Amino acid sequence: MTAQSPLTIPMEIRPARMRFRNEIWERTHGWRSDVDVAVEQMARLLDVKDLEGIKKAVEVGKPDRTYGYLNDPRAFFQALLAAQGVRQQDAVSAYHKTRDTLVQGEVMIANQITISDIKADIGSIGGHIKPGISVVEAVRKYVEQEGVNSGLLRSFFVSSTGDDISILMTHQRGKLDETIHNLAWNAFLVGTEVARLEGHYGAGQDLLVDAPAGNVKGAGPAVAELEFVERGAEPFVSFGADKTNPGAFSLPLYLLSDPMYNSGLILADNMRPGYTYRILDLTHKGEDKAIYLNTPEDLYDLALLVRDTDNFVIESVFLKTTGEQFVAVSATRLHDIAGKYTGKDDPRMLVRCQGQFPATGEVLHPFALGHLVAGFMRGSHNGPLMPVKLNGTISWFDGPPIVTAAAFSVKNGILTEPADAFDQPFWDAVRHEVAQKAQWIRRQGFFGAAMLPWNELEYSAGPVKKMKALQSRFTLERDGEPMEGAAGSQKD
Ligand code: F6R
Ligand code: MG
Ligand code: MG
Repeated sequence: MTAQSPLTIPMEIRPARMRFRNEIWERTHGWRSDVDVAVEQMARLLDVKDLEGIKKAVEVGKPDRTYGYLNDPRAFFQALLAAQGVRQQDAVSAYHKTRDTLVQGEVMIANQITISDIKADIGSIGGHIKPGISVVEAVRKYVEQEGVNSGLLRSFFVSSTGDDISILMTHQRGKLDETIHNLAWNAFLVGTEVARLEGHYGAGQDLLVDAPAGNVKGAGPAVAELEFVERGAEPFVSFGADKTNPGAFSLPLYLLSDPMYNSGLILADNMRPGYTYRILDLTHKGEDKAIYLNTPEDLYDLALLVRDTDNFVIESVFLKTTGEQFVAVSATRLHDIAGKYTGKDDPRMLVRCQGQFPATGEVLHPFALGHLVAGFMRGSHNGPLMPVKLNGTISWFDGPPIVTAAAFSVKNGILTEPADAFDQPFWDAVRHEVAQKAQWIRRQGFFGAAMLPWNELEYSAGPVKKMKALQSRFTLERDGEPMEGAAGSQKD
């Protein structure tokens, strides 16, 4: 075979900086085994033995491994044709066939992917409102350099919810992977450095240990992870909440078992069998103390437990029939880690949607309730959870508590851009209502349900001390007269 001359480049690959989105070079950038697969496939189709030649051609094409395109696709094809002595149309068709095969996932080593959503509050500007752009950028850059370019990650997305930064990562290393968790931890350390230098408030707040042991669970950051075999099309939503705790997700997840909210339970045969919930007892320190309940049969037991959003929290949900996990919530309590209350445990949640799972809209439905959650100012009040846009901030009374929802599709581990699920006119009406609800409860200040009980106050040390002092001043009286010798009866 001889290369054709002069070389003509097909229209579709002509632009100098063409994006190879969803095509092999995006899939391959930084992920060696996929490069090998792509190169082998191409070599087989072109009937050439020189794999190195094809690899070299990729390099000649100046691959941008960060954004996944060839800076110079023309040079790539020229190098390929020259080195391999193949005809241009053979090369182009091999390229397309390789791409198609990879797109169909046939040559993926395995379609098993892991989504890790790891978040931390490492400092914010103007109070506990939002992380600074410089800090988010430092985190993003670090993950890009150390995660993507090293081939550890397939894809990632950095965003913020209130003062918390989330690093959403796709990879093939499974849950609780030390390397992946360390990557996130180190990115947060780098971000913390920037926050410190620029005097952001609460720099490094959620990094509670010197170095995490094994994984970052228990070291401060919140972790939600799902591992599964990708379906042909795989939509999922990454939720984040600020100024609240993991129990904030329990009501929306409970309502997945209610056909009033989840219409699929009565309209879709494959959703009828129901779910298995894993609930953690967060009062237990150390290992996870878990219970599994099935719906609809155990619905009332589920209700009995998860009504207590501080202590019993839904951590995962599975399909009852296949055991497939489709929900993961970061269920931890920072004050149990730090030994003192350091802040609310602003949670993350991942939910796979559609098909055998609830539709994205069914998962979002309960968030229109603006249900009251623990958190708000000083992590010590109840306030309604307001659905806000991605990278949304807090404000009034350090709140109200907020939730963001980034909906993605993922293919062979590569994320699409996010669809901002709460950025739609319907949610403006919800936000308006939630703002009113927030003001209603705030009108009663610290009374009753407006403020949390003793053990849930974020700043409990001070008030507890004051309460002790006040206790000692109480006296026992009978008929309006002090009782002699009764404990706590002295007046001071
Ligand atoms: C709640 C929260 C904020 C702070 C409040 C006081 O989780 O982060 O409401 O509790 O702004 O912050 P400090 O004590 O840091 O001045
Ligand atoms: Mg904070
Ligand atoms: Mg926060």
